Amino acid sequence: MGRLFWKILLVFVVTMLVTSFGVGFVVHIHAQQRLAQMTELAAGPRAERNLAAAGTALRYGGAAGFATLAGQWPARRPLPVLAVDATGADVLGRSVPPLALERARALSSAGDDDAVRPVQAPDGRHYLLFAPADVLPHRPRGAHRRPGPDPFYLRLAITVLAGLLFSGSLAWYLTRPLRHLRRATSRLAEGALQTRVMPALGPRRDEIGDLGRDFDYMAERLQALVGAQKRLLNDVSHELRSPLARLQVAVGLARQQPEKLACALERIEREGTRLDDLVGHLLTLSRLEAGVMQGLEEYLAVGELLEDIVDDARFEAAASDRDVRLRTAGEWVLKGRAELLSRAFENVIRNAVRHTAPGTVVEVSLELEASGTQLIVEVCDRGPGVPEAELATLFEPFVRSAHREAGGGYGLGLAITRRAVNAHGGRVTAANRTGGGLCVTLRLPLAAS
Ligand SMILES: Nc1ncnc2c1ncn2[C@@H]1O[C@H](COP(=O)(O)OP(=O)(O)OP(=O)(O)O)[C@@H](O)[C@H]1O
Ligand SMILES: [Mg+2]
Repeated sequence: MGRLFWKILLVFVVTMLVTSFGVGFVVHIHAQQRLAQMTELAAGPRAERNLAAAGTALRYGGAAGFATLAGQWPARRPLPVLAVDATGADVLGRSVPPLALERARALSSAGDDDAVRPVQAPDGRHYLLFAPADVLPHRPRGAHRRPGPDPFYLRLAITVLAGLLFSGSLAWYLTRPLRHLRRATSRLAEGALQTRVMPALGPRRDEIGDLGRDFDYMAERLQALVGAQKRLLNDVSHELRSPLARLQVAVGLARQQPEKLACALERIEREGTRLDDLVGHLLTLSRLEAGVMQGLEEYLAVGELLEDIVDDARFEAAASDRDVRLRTAGEWVLKGRAELLSRAFENVIRNAVRHTAPGTVVEVSLELEASGTQLIVEVCDRGPGVPEAELATLFEPFVRSAHREAGGGYGLGLAITRRAVNAHGGRVTAANRTGGGLCVTLRLPLAAS
């Protein structure tokens, strides 16, 4: 058992004891007060009968006889007669109301024997018998009690045991999930990222349940992130291999056939540029993933930014009999990093220009969403589109469509776009267009501006 278990147990036991003693003390004080308020003595035929019976028992049976008589009275309504000796103590050790005793003594010395009765026990001791009027004395303790263990101690033992049992189970209930969590944390730290705690914790709805669910969410995210990093590393190594292999071939070719040196050098240069490009893309991606977008400082006019990119893209597109058109419904200013946003727009627009069929137009539009909280940039082309099954993974690094044309890029453009848009608090989605083609939609919240 851990330390927390004992701490909780101790706190509960101490609380229970303090409460019990506190309540006992208050009840005792209250009883004393009631006792002090008792002044009247019971009179009448019933009191007289009780006094006569008690007197006879005490006179002939002594303290033991009196106790036997008291034992015959029902526990709920004990014998209401006190037998007080010269020192003011009851023969059965019950509490004696001081004012009532004073009154009984006064009546006795005045010779009144209605409500008081002096009795001499066989051992020669003198007692004064009387019955307080309003409240019955407590059930006597002592010689008259029934055989068996003292009910007070029995009750105390049962209470303490029940309290211990309750505190123990509560402490166990509270510490058990924590032990689970601790074990799971160690396992996670050792690299077992598939570790989850909720199956062991059960369907709890309390704070510990919330902690368990948060732990599972954290483990799930960690597993996904580490998995993604591993995949990325694999993909990067794989991507680097092909240009490196081609470089080696080109070098080999130059060695074996010096007359093809120029051709080989050109190849080497091309592969070098390609490698440089790839590493540049990867650096951008990793910078974005590392969250270098902390300070969103620049205010930028989104319409102007798009116009510049569309102008460049149109110039390139015209060479292959394609066109790009921009439609803006106004001008809005956004707070962000112009370099990243323009890279995001450029990646999407270049993709559209590359994929759209010759003789068609790529439509770029900028508008404010109906709620007025975010800008919507849409880039639609008339190309082959993307198979529905691939739409969900299109923005992952190194994902290239199955029917892409040869000599395409690395599949990093859209991954960079998504991270750049996310870094601005936005979202990017892609959908196939009716009539053919792909529409990529970038949503950028204005709230950050
Ligand atoms: N407008 C589009 N129409 C059809 N397919 C598209 C379109 N845009 C992207 N794709 C598909 O999505 C894939 C991923 O695009 P992404 O921009 O990430 O990579 P890429 O263009 O191949 O390479 P680069 O890293 O140079 O951008 C592309 O390979 C292509 O198959
Ligand atoms: Mg691209």
